[in-house]
Amino acid sequence: MARSKEPVAGSNSNGTVAAPGEAAARGFSRRAFLASGAAVGVGAGLGPFGHVADALADKPASTKLSKGDAAILRFLAAAEILETDLWQQYNELGGVQDSEVPGGSGSKRYTEALEVLDEDMPQYIHDNTEDEFTHFTFLNAYLESRGAEPVDLKQFAELPSSKATGAQQIGRLTNLMELAVDTSWWTRYRSSTKNPDLGDSFRQAVPDLAKGSFPAIPRNDGDLEPEKHIQAIANTAGFHFATIEQGGTSLYPALAQRVRDAEALRVVLSIGPTEAMHFQTWSDKAGNAPPLVDPTNGLEFPDLNKAPFGGEEFKTTLIMPEPTVFLRKSLPIVSIVRPTETRGIAMGVVEFLTAMGLFKGQSNGFLQTLKQLATEADAAKPRG
Ligand SMILES: [Fe+2]
Repeated sequence: MARSKEPVAGSNSNGTVAAPGEAAARGFSRRAFLASGAAVGVGAGLGPFGHVADALADKPASTKLSKGDAAILRFLAAAEILETDLWQQYNELGGVQDSEVPGGSGSKRYTEALEVLDEDMPQYIHDNTEDEFTHFTFLNAYLESRGAEPVDLKQFAELPSSKATGAQQIGRLTNLMELAVDTSWWTRYRSSTKNPDLGDSFRQAVPDLAKGSFPAIPRNDGDLEPEKHIQAIANTAGFHFATIEQGGTSLYPALAQRVRDAEALRVVLSIGPTEAMHFQTWSDKAGNAPPLVDPTNGLEFPDLNKAPFGGEEFKTTLIMPEPTVFLRKSLPIVSIVRPTETRGIAMGVVEFLTAMGLFKGQSNGFLQTLKQLATEADAAKPRG
């Protein structure tokens, strides 16, 4: 389906959703949403299923979502708002700025450093950003269509923007300038004997990055040199992209296990795999990050194909999940997303993002709001 040429309805420039009244004032309504590309696409280009989809497209489920299902979708909407906020910052400096993903004017040196990982990085950053916009916009519109409250974090967008040329000067929800990036997904998805759901732990691909704190975007134009410094910032971004998206890849199947309503489950099951598509792409690109030491702070990106790295858990040619143990070690190994344990997943994600430094400088009110959304999602009862 063709991507819409219009900015995403209901969202503002800093990746937060408009309050319901404000959105209505700007003409954003369920009807407007159904007329937009996202809903039109339901009935388009589906071949033999087209007629069925046409008949269903304008017939929303009439029942109100249960408390548990609404809480799960609300937590997902919050997670998507946060993803949108951080991806928007990446896109302003290193992506393609256009009418689909407006804002910012790009940083030439940062973009060139990202292109060392893959010449298509600006396009991929753009498309990932647009996807996150649509995820939270759809989830909020869907919540409203089923009688539940949408999520609005706009009041907490007070963190400073990068001062580098190319970034918009607006309030942000997330901080990309003091990160501690957990790169254990690198070895987790290459292991054939371990699974985090069975209590296993995993080595870091870039041990220094996990210790923090490092910028993933230039903080100002002083960060654009020397060359190895801006490349280290781009490398940090390259690993951070995958760290974020592997989180989404686990979050959706983990929460899906407690969704009761069939249509709400369809929403969760249809968005979740797109996070895996993002993760797969970024996992491949991170392997192209050039080995180097940042002369300004000593941050080392090791050669993952050489000792003490190297071997099956590190080699960069492996980009698909290695089959591993699942549920019980008595069962045969299988290629799966990991982890997918449902208990406590929402709070686990909040803790994961907090430990990453993504909320450094954020207010207590923001953290309390996020924890409340997580607590409510985690309270949704598991299926029988
Ligand atoms: Fe997403």
